[in-house]
Amino acid sequence: MWTPPDRIKHALPQVGWPTAAEAAVARWFSPVAIGPLVARQRTWVPAMVPWRASDEGYVTDDVIAWYARFAAGRPGVIVVEATGIRDVPSGPLLRIGHDRFIPGMARLAAAVRDASDGETLLFLQAIDFLAIRRRPEKRKYFERFLAITASHREGLARLLGPDGGVERWPGASDEEVRRALLDLDEHHLAALLTERELEAYEVGYRERITDLHLPHIRELPEVLPGLFADAAERAFCAGFDGVELHFAHAYTMASFLSAKNDRSDGYGGPREHRARLPREVIAGVRARVGPDRVIGCRFLGDEVIAGGNRLHDACYFGVEFARAGLDFLSISKGGKFEDAKQPKVGAAAYPYTGESGYECMPTVFSDERGPFGRNVGLAAEVKRAVNAAGFAIPVVVAGGIGTFAQAEEILARGEADIVAAARQSLADPDWFRKILRGRGGEVRRCEFTNYCEALDQQHKQVTCQRWDREALDEPGIARDASGRRRLIAPPWR
Ligand SMILES: Cc1cc2nc3c(=O)[nH]c(=O)nc-3n(C[C@H](O)[C@H](O)[C@H](O)COP(=O)(O)O)c2cc1C
Ligand code: SF4
Repeated sequence: MWTPPDRIKHALPQVGWPTAAEAAVARWFSPVAIGPLVARQRTWVPAMVPWRASDEGYVTDDVIAWYARFAAGRPGVIVVEATGIRDVPSGPLLRIGHDRFIPGMARLAAAVRDASDGETLLFLQAIDFLAIRRRPEKRKYFERFLAITASHREGLARLLGPDGGVERWPGASDEEVRRALLDLDEHHLAALLTERELEAYEVGYRERITDLHLPHIRELPEVLPGLFADAAERAFCAGFDGVELHFAHAYTMASFLSAKNDRSDGYGGPREHRARLPREVIAGVRARVGPDRVIGCRFLGDEVIAGGNRLHDACYFGVEFARAGLDFLSISKGGKFEDAKQPKVGAAAYPYTGESGYECMPTVFSDERGPFGRNVGLAAEVKRAVNAAGFAIPVVVAGGIGTFAQAEEILARGEADIVAAARQSLADPDWFRKILRGRGGEVRRCEFTNYCEALDQQHKQVTCQRWDREALDEPGIARDASGRRRLIAPPWR
């Protein structure tokens, strides 16, 4: 993962945990209205993909155990991982693109209700993403994947000159062109291939929302409102309390919002046009599920890429989404493909390997500011803009929050309405209950070194280094494929 060039290893913030009496009157543990519902606390576990779905995208017993474990800590809200809205194969990622996924989702919703005694609201994060391929081997790419064009022939003629046989390249067979390209070094390939061909060779092919020559990309604005609406309807049918539309990070909807979106069909270019499809998705979902269901979205306070959206764009979008009828806004940061590192041959690019990825899940190896609460300023500004426009919907902040004091201060300063913690909740799913009982000293603290994120990157079942080797020989412990890591945190006894 990318780390800031002048990195410093930061110590975890000092903690002074509250007594049970202090916690009982804390802002963080006070209720908050989210649309027509009330969350019992302003604590929130944001979406985290744990790689536990079946290869066909179904809820498994491991998925249920994972969320039931978080529910035992009784946060105000748990958001279930990014769940695909299409009925297309996408490996062990949860899907809700067909009615056959509803029974599994219903089992999941019931398990969370049981484990939290009905105290935790369960939301589903609905995602759409475009195709991405693995970085190919050089031989495979030039022998099989690259579509040979006249420009390759012209390029070879230019490059190889008379000795290379200028006359022969315009009429050369595809096979000859492929062989000649395969023999070129990286420097010459960079001069000869188009930008997209070079990207497909060096990093792996990736579709973009601006590929208007592809019919299924051109038609995204026609199909996505319906697909999101179908997915939301299924989630509510399964017993979920809310739906979080995934408008953040590297995926389709965030790409529509991005300042890099220059679609020429009224869905790109100026900010109002970039917000058009997200607004239509919100309208489509709302029309389908009605006014009494909780719908919100997660989007970026800053894309953290050259030429991308900044905070002022996020403030504009926040107001637009509130006006479109969302019930909450959850702010994240970065996590883009544009600055992702080159993957190894055979692996796909991963949008959390560059600076924008660092900003999404910052570690203790950080710059002077440190990783703690790095997104708070973004959320505060979005909240200020949304409130100033006359909307009171709650704003959720996450990013490097791992103590009670941080959360209380954010709420006391009015910088957000709900304070979320992903990695700290993974390190200790019981931490909310421990604090409430005045036993904060027992909280297993997140070290913010991203062992969990590295597992996610390798598409391995996500666990936490603070507990995954603990009490492995106890009977009935579910382990990963290697048998060396337990899959859920040990119980708090
Ligand atoms: C293993 C892992 C998986 C994640 N999966 C998702 C996801 O599915 N959707 C999403 O919006 N964010 C995802 N995130 C980002 C988190 O929700 C959160 O924004 C980020 O970790 C920063 O918050 P934290 O400092 O409290 O961990 C993931 C994070 C981790 C560590
Ligand atoms: S693996 Fe590390 S960064 Fe991830 S939750 Fe555990 S302690 Fe935190």
